[in-house]
Amino acid sequence: MIDRLSPGDRLPSSRELIRRFQVGPATVSQAIAVLAAEGLVVTRPGSGTYVAARVQRRAEVADTAWQTVTLADRSVDTRLLTGTIGEPPAGTIMLDGGYLHRSLQPTQILTAALARAARRPDAWDRAPAGGLAALRSVFAAMAGDGVSADDILVTAGGQSALSMAFRAIAAPGDPVLVESPTYPGAIAAARAAGLRPVPVPMDADGLQPDLLADAFAMTRARLLYCQPTHHNPTGTTLAPQRRRQIVDAARAAGAFVIEDDFARYLGHGTPVPPPLLAGDRHGTVVHLTSLTKPAAPSLRIGALVARGPVLERLRATRLVDDFFVTRPLQEAALELLSSPNWERHLRSLAATLRERCAALAAAVTHQLPHWTLTRIPTGGLHLWVRLPYGTDDTVAADTARQYGVAVSAGHRYFATERPAAYLRLGFAATADRTELTEAARRLASAHEQAAGTR
Ligand SMILES: Cc1ncc(COP(=O)(O)O)c(C=O)c1O
Repeated sequence: MIDRLSPGDRLPSSRELIRRFQVGPATVSQAIAVLAAEGLVVTRPGSGTYVAARVQRRAEVADTAWQTVTLADRSVDTRLLTGTIGEPPAGTIMLDGGYLHRSLQPTQILTAALARAARRPDAWDRAPAGGLAALRSVFAAMAGDGVSADDILVTAGGQSALSMAFRAIAAPGDPVLVESPTYPGAIAAARAAGLRPVPVPMDADGLQPDLLADAFAMTRARLLYCQPTHHNPTGTTLAPQRRRQIVDAARAAGAFVIEDDFARYLGHGTPVPPPLLAGDRHGTVVHLTSLTKPAAPSLRIGALVARGPVLERLRATRLVDDFFVTRPLQEAALELLSSPNWERHLRSLAATLRERCAALAAAVTHQLPHWTLTRIPTGGLHLWVRLPYGTDDTVAADTARQYGVAVSAGHRYFATERPAAYLRLGFAATADRTELTEAARRLASAHEQAAGTR
Protein backbone atom coordinates (compact mmCIF):
# COMPACT_ATOMS: atom_id res chain seq x y z
CA MET A 1 0.00 0.00 0.00
CA ILE A 2 2.83 2.37 0.93
CA ASP A 3 4.48 1.80 -2.46
CA ARG A 4 1.31 2.86 -4.23
CA LEU A 5 0.94 6.02 -2.09
CA SER A 6 3.07 9.17 -2.22
CA PRO A 7 5.17 10.62 0.61
CA GLY A 8 2.93 12.58 2.96
CA ASP A 9 -0.22 10.60 2.08
CA ARG A 10 -2.24 9.46 5.04
CA LEU A 11 -2.68 5.72 5.65
CA PRO A 12 -6.21 4.44 6.32
CA SER A 13 -7.24 4.69 9.96
CA SER A 14 -6.52 1.84 12.37
CA ARG A 15 -10.20 1.01 12.45
CA GLU A 16 -10.23 0.72 8.65
CA LEU A 17 -7.08 -1.47 8.66
CA ILE A 18 -8.62 -3.76 11.32
CA ARG A 19 -11.70 -4.17 9.16
CA ARG A 20 -9.85 -4.58 5.88
CA PHE A 21 -7.28 -7.15 7.05
CA GLN A 22 -9.50 -8.91 9.59
CA VAL A 23 -6.93 -8.58 12.39
CA GLY A 24 -7.01 -7.26 15.95
CA PRO A 25 -6.05 -3.74 17.07
CA ALA A 26 -2.83 -5.00 18.72
CA THR A 27 -1.66 -6.47 15.40
CA VAL A 28 -2.34 -3.23 13.56
CA SER A 29 -0.49 -1.10 16.10
CA GLN A 30 2.45 -3.56 16.09
CA ALA A 31 2.61 -3.45 12.29
CA ILE A 32 2.58 0.34 12.32
CA ALA A 33 5.32 0.38 14.96
CA VAL A 34 7.50 -1.90 12.78
CA LEU A 35 6.93 0.28 9.69
CA ALA A 36 7.76 3.40 11.71
CA ALA A 37 10.95 1.76 13.03
CA GLU A 38 11.92 0.95 9.43
CA GLY A 39 11.39 4.59 8.50
CA LEU A 40 8.57 3.83 6.06
CA VAL A 41 5.83 5.70 7.90
CA VAL A 42 5.60 8.58 10.35
CA THR A 43 2.97 8.53 13.08
CA ARG A 44 1.48 11.81 14.29
CA PRO A 45 -0.41 11.19 17.55
CA GLY A 46 -3.98 12.37 17.31
CA SER A 47 -3.71 12.86 13.55
CA GLY A 48 -2.82 9.53 11.90
CA THR A 49 -0.07 7.61 10.11
CA TYR A 50 1.60 9.09 7.02
CA VAL A 51 3.89 7.71 4.33
CA ALA A 52 7.44 8.90 5.09
CA ALA A 53 9.54 11.00 2.72
CA ARG A 54 11.67 8.62 0.60
CA VAL A 55 14.99 9.83 2.06
CA GLN A 56 13.87 8.62 5.47
CA ARG A 57 13.33 5.07 4.26
CA ARG A 58 15.98 2.77 5.64
CA ALA A 59 18.07 0.40 3.55
CA GLU A 60 16.74 -2.79 5.20
CA VAL A 61 14.27 -3.17 2.40
CA ALA A 62 17.17 -3.69 -0.03
CA ASP A 63 17.32 -7.18 -1.51
CA THR A 64 20.82 -8.64 -1.09
CA ALA A 65 19.85 -12.20 -1.99
CA TRP A 66 21.87 -11.99 -5.24
CA GLN A 67 25.08 -11.92 -3.18
CA THR A 68 24.56 -15.49 -2.06
CA VAL A 69 24.98 -16.64 -5.66
CA THR A 70 27.95 -14.38 -6.37
CA LEU A 71 29.83 -15.25 -3.18
CA ALA A 72 29.23 -18.96 -3.85
CA ASP A 73 30.23 -21.75 -1.48
CA ARG A 74 33.38 -20.20 -0.01
CA SER A 75 32.18 -19.10 3.42
CA VAL A 76 34.80 -18.69 6.17
CA ASP A 77 33.88 -20.86 9.12
CA THR A 78 34.30 -18.93 12.38
CA ARG A 79 32.41 -21.38 14.59
CA LEU A 80 35.69 -22.74 15.95
CA LEU A 81 36.62 -19.27 17.19
CA THR A 82 33.36 -18.12 18.72
CA GLY A 83 34.20 -19.66 22.11
CA THR A 84 37.23 -17.38 22.29
CA ILE A 85 35.41 -14.20 21.35
CA GLY A 86 31.68 -14.42 22.26
CA GLU A 87 30.29 -12.32 25.14
CA PRO A 88 29.04 -14.33 28.17
CA PRO A 89 26.08 -13.34 30.40
CA ALA A 90 26.98 -11.12 33.38
CA GLY A 91 28.24 -13.04 36.42
CA THR A 92 29.66 -15.91 34.36
CA ILE A 93 33.03 -17.18 35.57
CA MET A 94 35.28 -17.25 32.55
CA LEU A 95 37.16 -20.52 32.30
CA ASP A 96 37.13 -20.32 28.51
CA GLY A 97 39.30 -17.25 28.01
CA GLY A 98 42.52 -17.55 26.09
CA TYR A 99 44.12 -14.35 27.40
CA LEU A 100 45.18 -12.94 30.76
CA HIS A 101 42.57 -11.27 32.94
CA ARG A 102 43.09 -7.51 32.97
CA SER A 103 44.41 -7.71 36.54
CA LEU A 104 47.26 -9.95 35.30
CA GLN A 105 48.20 -7.77 32.34
CA PRO A 106 51.19 -5.40 32.69
CA THR A 107 48.87 -2.42 32.33
CA GLN A 108 51.20 0.20 33.81
CA ILE A 109 54.18 -0.81 31.68
CA LEU A 110 51.93 -0.93 28.61
CA THR A 111 50.48 2.52 29.30
CA ALA A 112 53.95 4.00 29.73
CA ALA A 113 55.23 2.21 26.62
CA LEU A 114 52.37 3.45 24.46
CA ALA A 115 52.75 7.01 25.76
CA ARG A 116 56.47 7.03 24.98
CA ALA A 117 55.81 5.51 21.55
CA ALA A 118 53.22 8.19 20.75
CA ARG A 119 55.71 10.97 21.56
CA ARG A 120 58.15 9.88 18.85
CA PRO A 121 58.04 12.33 15.95
CA ASP A 122 58.04 9.46 13.43
CA ALA A 123 55.35 7.45 15.26
CA TRP A 124 52.84 7.84 12.43
CA ASP A 125 55.26 7.38 9.54
CA ARG A 126 55.33 4.26 7.41
CA ALA A 127 57.17 1.26 8.81
CA PRO A 128 59.32 -1.20 6.85
CA ALA A 129 57.31 -4.19 5.54
CA GLY A 130 59.35 -6.58 7.69
CA GLY A 131 58.97 -4.47 10.83
CA LEU A 132 61.06 -1.86 12.67
CA ALA A 133 64.75 -2.81 12.68
CA ALA A 134 65.11 -2.31 16.44
CA LEU A 135 62.08 -4.47 17.19
CA ARG A 136 63.35 -7.18 14.84
CA SER A 137 66.65 -7.18 16.75
CA VAL A 138 64.83 -7.68 20.05
CA PHE A 139 62.76 -10.55 18.62
CA ALA A 140 65.95 -12.09 17.15
CA ALA A 141 67.64 -12.00 20.56
CA MET A 142 64.53 -13.61 22.12
CA ALA A 143 64.51 -16.38 19.47
CA GLY A 144 68.03 -17.47 20.47
CA ASP A 145 71.54 -18.01 19.13
CA GLY A 146 72.04 -17.92 15.43
CA VAL A 147 68.92 -15.85 14.68
CA SER A 148 69.52 -12.40 13.22
CA ALA A 149 67.22 -9.42 12.77
CA ASP A 150 67.18 -10.23 9.05
CA ASP A 151 65.38 -13.52 9.79
CA ILE A 152 62.46 -11.74 11.51
CA LEU A 153 59.17 -10.56 10.14
CA VAL A 154 57.00 -8.53 12.53
CA THR A 155 53.34 -9.60 12.38
CA ALA A 156 50.02 -8.38 13.77
CA GLY A 157 49.93 -11.07 16.48
CA GLY A 158 49.84 -14.84 16.17
CA GLN A 159 46.56 -15.47 14.35
CA SER A 160 47.42 -13.14 11.48
CA ALA A 161 50.87 -14.74 11.21
CA LEU A 162 49.30 -18.20 11.07
CA SER A 163 46.83 -17.25 8.35
CA MET A 164 49.60 -15.64 6.37
CA ALA A 165 52.00 -18.57 6.78
CA PHE A 166 49.40 -21.16 5.76
CA ARG A 167 48.57 -19.18 2.62
CA ALA A 168 52.20 -18.44 1.80
CA ILE A 169 53.57 -21.96 2.28
CA ALA A 170 50.84 -24.30 1.04
CA ALA A 171 48.41 -24.29 -1.86
CA PRO A 172 44.62 -24.75 -1.65
CA GLY A 173 43.78 -28.45 -1.44
CA ASP A 174 47.10 -29.36 0.25
CA PRO A 175 47.13 -31.37 3.46
CA VAL A 176 48.63 -29.83 6.61
CA LEU A 177 49.57 -32.11 9.51
CA VAL A 178 48.43 -30.90 12.93
CA GLU A 179 48.71 -32.27 16.43
CA SER A 180 45.55 -33.90 17.70
CA PRO A 181 44.10 -32.06 19.54
CA THR A 182 45.23 -28.59 18.49
CA TYR A 183 44.36 -24.88 18.62
CA PRO A 184 40.99 -24.31 16.85
CA GLY A 185 42.21 -21.01 15.40
CA ALA A 186 44.88 -22.93 13.51
CA ILE A 187 42.32 -25.41 12.15
CA ALA A 188 40.10 -22.49 11.08
CA ALA A 189 42.98 -20.56 9.46
CA ALA A 190 44.20 -23.65 7.62
CA ARG A 191 40.69 -24.34 6.30
CA ALA A 192 40.24 -20.70 5.30
CA ALA A 193 43.45 -21.06 3.25
CA GLY A 194 41.87 -24.07 1.54
CA LEU A 195 44.12 -26.58 3.34
CA ARG A 196 43.07 -29.95 4.78
CA PRO A 197 44.16 -30.37 8.41
CA VAL A 198 45.23 -34.01 9.04
CA PRO A 199 45.56 -34.96 12.71
CA VAL A 200 48.63 -36.72 14.16
CA PRO A 201 48.25 -38.22 17.66
CA MET A 202 50.10 -37.01 20.74
CA ASP A 203 50.96 -38.81 23.95
CA ALA A 204 52.17 -37.51 27.32
CA ASP A 205 55.48 -36.46 25.69
CA GLY A 206 53.82 -34.62 22.81
CA LEU A 207 53.71 -35.36 19.11
CA GLN A 208 54.77 -38.94 18.29
CA PRO A 209 57.68 -38.90 15.79
CA ASP A 210 57.02 -42.38 14.30
CA LEU A 211 53.35 -41.57 13.65
CA LEU A 212 54.38 -38.21 12.24
CA ALA A 213 56.74 -39.92 9.79
CA ASP A 214 53.89 -42.28 8.79
CA ALA A 215 51.56 -39.32 8.28
CA PHE A 216 54.09 -37.52 6.08
CA ALA A 217 54.49 -40.69 3.99
CA MET A 218 50.76 -41.33 3.75
CA THR A 219 49.56 -37.81 2.96
CA ARG A 220 52.67 -36.40 1.21
CA ALA A 221 52.05 -33.26 3.29
CA ARG A 222 54.69 -30.55 3.01
CA LEU A 223 53.64 -28.71 6.15
CA LEU A 224 53.29 -29.48 9.87
CA TYR A 225 51.73 -27.06 12.37
CA CYS A 226 52.66 -27.75 15.99
CA GLN A 227 53.03 -26.19 19.43
CA PRO A 228 55.94 -27.96 21.09
CA THR A 229 55.87 -25.87 24.29
CA HIS A 230 52.87 -25.64 26.67
CA HIS A 231 50.59 -26.91 23.94
CA ASN A 232 47.04 -25.51 23.70
CA PRO A 233 44.83 -27.23 24.83
CA THR A 234 46.66 -30.12 26.54
CA GLY A 235 49.51 -28.22 28.25
CA THR A 236 52.00 -30.84 26.99
CA THR A 237 55.61 -29.88 26.32
CA LEU A 238 57.32 -31.92 23.63
CA ALA A 239 60.06 -34.06 25.22
CA PRO A 240 63.60 -32.77 24.48
CA GLN A 241 64.69 -36.04 22.78
CA ARG A 242 61.74 -35.83 20.38
CA ARG A 243 62.48 -32.30 19.19
CA ARG A 244 65.27 -33.28 16.83
CA GLN A 245 63.22 -36.29 15.60
CA ILE A 246 60.27 -34.07 14.66
CA VAL A 247 62.44 -31.68 12.67
CA ASP A 248 64.25 -34.61 11.03
CA ALA A 249 60.96 -36.27 10.02
CA ALA A 250 59.80 -33.02 8.43
CA ARG A 251 63.13 -32.50 6.70
CA ALA A 252 63.05 -36.05 5.32
CA ALA A 253 59.62 -35.29 3.85
CA GLY A 254 60.76 -31.96 2.37
CA ALA A 255 58.23 -30.26 4.64
CA PHE A 256 58.15 -27.05 6.65
CA VAL A 257 57.26 -26.97 10.34
CA ILE A 258 55.31 -24.02 11.68
CA GLU A 259 56.38 -23.93 15.33
CA ASP A 260 53.74 -21.94 17.23
CA ASP A 261 55.71 -20.87 20.30
CA PHE A 262 52.87 -18.72 21.66
CA ALA A 263 53.31 -19.89 25.27
CA ARG A 264 57.10 -19.66 25.80
CA TYR A 265 56.53 -16.75 28.19
CA LEU A 266 53.63 -18.43 29.99
CA GLY A 267 55.78 -20.95 31.86
CA HIS A 268 55.02 -21.56 35.54
CA GLY A 269 58.62 -21.27 36.65
CA THR A 270 60.29 -24.51 35.51
CA PRO A 271 62.78 -24.27 32.62
CA VAL A 272 61.50 -25.17 29.13
CA PRO A 273 63.48 -26.83 26.32
CA PRO A 274 64.78 -24.57 23.55
CA PRO A 275 62.44 -24.14 20.57
CA LEU A 276 62.59 -26.46 17.55
CA LEU A 277 64.11 -23.49 15.76
CA ALA A 278 67.27 -23.85 17.88
CA GLY A 279 68.20 -27.20 16.34
CA ASP A 280 67.21 -26.31 12.78
CA ARG A 281 70.06 -25.52 10.40
CA HIS A 282 68.32 -25.75 7.05
CA GLY A 283 65.30 -23.47 7.27
CA THR A 284 62.79 -26.26 8.02
CA VAL A 285 61.23 -24.44 10.97
CA VAL A 286 59.11 -21.32 10.62
CA HIS A 287 58.89 -20.10 14.19
CA LEU A 288 56.04 -17.98 15.52
CA THR A 289 55.84 -15.89 18.67
CA SER A 290 53.28 -13.35 19.89
CA LEU A 291 53.06 -10.76 22.68
CA THR A 292 49.28 -10.97 23.10
CA LYS A 293 49.41 -13.84 25.58
CA PRO A 294 52.04 -12.66 28.09
CA ALA A 295 50.99 -8.98 27.76
CA ALA A 296 47.46 -8.14 26.54
CA PRO A 297 45.19 -9.29 23.69
CA SER A 298 45.27 -5.90 21.99
CA LEU A 299 49.04 -5.71 21.84
CA ARG A 300 48.68 -7.38 18.48
CA ILE A 301 52.36 -7.74 17.75
CA GLY A 302 54.14 -10.98 17.00
CA ALA A 303 57.03 -12.24 14.91
CA LEU A 304 57.83 -14.97 12.43
CA VAL A 305 61.35 -16.31 12.19
CA ALA A 306 62.21 -17.95 8.88
CA ARG A 307 65.32 -18.70 6.86
CA GLY A 308 65.73 -19.13 3.12
CA PRO A 309 63.29 -18.45 0.26
CA VAL A 310 60.30 -18.99 2.56
CA LEU A 311 61.18 -15.73 4.32
CA GLU A 312 60.93 -13.88 1.02
CA ARG A 313 57.58 -15.57 0.34
CA LEU A 314 56.30 -14.53 3.77
CA ARG A 315 57.62 -10.99 3.43
CA ALA A 316 55.93 -10.62 0.04
CA THR A 317 52.64 -11.99 1.44
CA ARG A 318 52.85 -9.56 4.36
CA LEU A 319 53.42 -6.63 1.98
CA VAL A 320 50.56 -7.57 -0.34
CA ASP A 321 48.17 -8.25 2.55
CA ASP A 322 48.48 -4.94 4.38
CA PHE A 323 51.89 -3.29 3.74
CA PHE A 324 53.13 -3.29 7.35
CA VAL A 325 52.07 -3.54 10.99
CA THR A 326 50.89 -0.27 12.50
CA ARG A 327 53.94 1.67 13.63
CA PRO A 328 52.79 3.09 17.01
CA LEU A 329 52.06 -0.44 18.21
CA GLN A 330 55.47 -1.67 17.01
CA GLU A 331 57.12 1.23 18.85
CA ALA A 332 55.09 0.42 21.97
CA ALA A 333 56.10 -3.26 21.77
CA LEU A 334 59.73 -2.20 21.47
CA GLU A 335 59.38 0.03 24.53
CA LEU A 336 57.70 -2.78 26.46
CA LEU A 337 60.30 -5.42 25.65
CA SER A 338 63.15 -3.02 26.42
CA SER A 339 61.71 -2.08 29.81
CA PRO A 340 63.40 -3.62 32.88
CA ASN A 341 59.87 -4.08 34.25
CA TRP A 342 59.05 -6.58 31.50
CA GLU A 343 61.24 -9.33 32.99
CA ARG A 344 59.78 -8.54 36.41
CA HIS A 345 56.27 -8.88 34.96
CA LEU A 346 57.12 -12.27 33.44
CA ARG A 347 58.51 -13.54 36.75
CA SER A 348 55.47 -12.49 38.75
CA LEU A 349 53.16 -13.82 36.03
CA ALA A 350 54.86 -17.22 36.25
CA ALA A 351 54.25 -17.37 40.01
CA THR A 352 50.61 -16.30 39.64
CA LEU A 353 49.91 -18.80 36.87
CA ARG A 354 51.50 -21.60 38.93
CA GLU A 355 49.30 -20.77 41.93
CA ARG A 356 46.15 -20.50 39.87
CA CYS A 357 46.85 -23.70 38.00
CA ALA A 358 47.37 -25.57 41.28
CA ALA A 359 44.22 -24.02 42.79
CA LEU A 360 41.97 -25.00 39.88
CA ALA A 361 43.52 -28.47 39.62
CA ALA A 362 42.96 -29.06 43.35
CA ALA A 363 39.38 -27.77 43.21
CA VAL A 364 38.50 -29.89 40.17
CA THR A 365 40.09 -33.02 41.67
CA HIS A 366 38.18 -32.46 44.89
CA GLN A 367 34.80 -31.43 43.44
CA LEU A 368 34.72 -33.59 40.32
CA PRO A 369 36.27 -36.97 41.15
CA HIS A 370 34.85 -38.52 37.95
CA TRP A 371 36.70 -36.08 35.71
CA THR A 372 40.26 -36.98 34.73
CA LEU A 373 42.88 -34.26 34.81
CA THR A 374 45.12 -35.32 31.95
CA ARG A 375 48.16 -33.57 33.51
CA ILE A 376 49.21 -30.67 35.71
CA PRO A 377 50.81 -28.44 33.10
CA THR A 378 54.11 -26.66 33.72
CA GLY A 379 53.01 -23.69 31.63
CA GLY A 380 50.17 -22.15 29.69
CA LEU A 381 46.74 -21.02 30.75
CA HIS A 382 44.61 -24.20 30.76
CA LEU A 383 43.77 -27.59 32.20
CA TRP A 384 42.59 -30.31 29.84
CA VAL A 385 40.12 -32.68 31.49
CA ARG A 386 38.64 -35.90 30.16
CA LEU A 387 34.96 -36.40 30.91
CA PRO A 388 33.49 -39.72 32.01
CA TYR A 389 32.64 -42.21 29.27
CA GLY A 390 29.29 -41.40 27.64
CA THR A 391 29.38 -37.66 28.44
CA ASP A 392 28.79 -35.25 25.57
CA ASP A 393 31.19 -32.31 25.83
CA THR A 394 28.79 -29.87 24.15
CA VAL A 395 26.04 -30.76 26.64
CA ALA A 396 28.55 -30.50 29.51
CA ALA A 397 29.68 -27.03 28.31
CA ASP A 398 26.07 -25.85 27.83
CA THR A 399 25.06 -27.09 31.28
CA ALA A 400 28.13 -25.43 32.81
CA ARG A 401 27.10 -22.15 31.19
CA GLN A 402 23.63 -22.45 32.71
CA TYR A 403 25.36 -22.80 36.08
CA GLY A 404 27.43 -19.66 35.43
CA VAL A 405 30.73 -21.08 34.17
CA ALA A 406 32.02 -20.69 30.60
CA VAL A 407 34.24 -23.58 29.51
CA SER A 408 35.46 -24.72 26.09
CA ALA A 409 33.97 -27.93 24.69
CA GLY A 410 36.78 -30.28 23.67
CA HIS A 411 35.51 -31.21 20.20
CA ARG A 412 36.59 -27.79 18.88
CA TYR A 413 40.21 -28.84 19.28
CA PHE A 414 40.01 -31.87 17.00
CA ALA A 415 40.33 -31.53 13.24
CA THR A 416 38.39 -34.78 12.73
CA GLU A 417 36.79 -37.36 15.07
CA ARG A 418 37.68 -37.09 18.75
CA PRO A 419 38.78 -40.10 20.77
CA ALA A 420 36.93 -39.02 23.95
CA ALA A 421 35.02 -36.08 25.43
CA TYR A 422 37.12 -33.28 26.92
CA LEU A 423 36.75 -29.80 28.35
CA ARG A 424 39.39 -27.10 28.42
CA LEU A 425 39.37 -25.12 31.66
CA GLY A 426 41.34 -21.86 31.78
CA PHE A 427 42.70 -20.40 35.01
CA ALA A 428 44.04 -17.04 33.79
CA ALA A 429 40.97 -15.15 32.62
CA THR A 430 39.17 -14.93 35.98
CA ALA A 431 39.45 -11.94 38.30
CA ASP A 432 41.02 -13.95 41.12
CA ARG A 433 41.71 -17.37 42.58
CA THR A 434 38.55 -17.59 44.65
CA GLU A 435 36.56 -17.54 41.41
CA LEU A 436 38.35 -20.74 40.39
CA THR A 437 37.15 -22.58 43.49
CA GLU A 438 33.65 -21.23 43.01
CA ALA A 439 33.76 -22.30 39.34
CA ALA A 440 34.65 -25.89 40.35
CA ARG A 441 31.75 -25.91 42.81
CA ARG A 442 29.35 -24.72 40.08
CA LEU A 443 30.76 -27.27 37.63
CA ALA A 444 30.12 -30.03 40.18
CA SER A 445 26.47 -28.90 40.50
CA ALA A 446 26.18 -28.77 36.69
CA HIS A 447 27.72 -32.23 36.44
CA GLU A 448 25.27 -33.64 39.01
CA GLN A 449 22.32 -32.16 37.15
CA ALA A 450 23.57 -33.57 33.81
CA ALA A 451 24.23 -36.99 35.37
CA GLY A 452 20.72 -36.95 36.85
CA THR A 453 19.11 -36.41 33.47
CA ARG A 454 21.18 -39.04 31.64
C1 LIG B 1 48.13 -21.77 20.17
C2 LIG B 1 47.75 -20.38 19.78
N1 LIG B 1 48.38 -19.81 18.75
C3 LIG B 1 48.07 -18.57 18.34
C4 LIG B 1 47.08 -17.86 18.94
C5 LIG B 1 46.75 -16.49 18.39
O1 LIG B 1 46.89 -15.50 19.34
P1 LIG B 1 47.07 -13.96 18.96
O2 LIG B 1 46.60 -13.75 17.58
O3 LIG B 1 46.27 -13.22 19.97
O4 LIG B 1 48.56 -13.69 19.08
C6 LIG B 1 46.37 -18.42 20.00
C7 LIG B 1 45.26 -17.69 20.63
O5 LIG B 1 44.47 -18.21 21.38
C8 LIG B 1 46.73 -19.72 20.43
O6 LIG B 1 46.09 -20.31 21.45
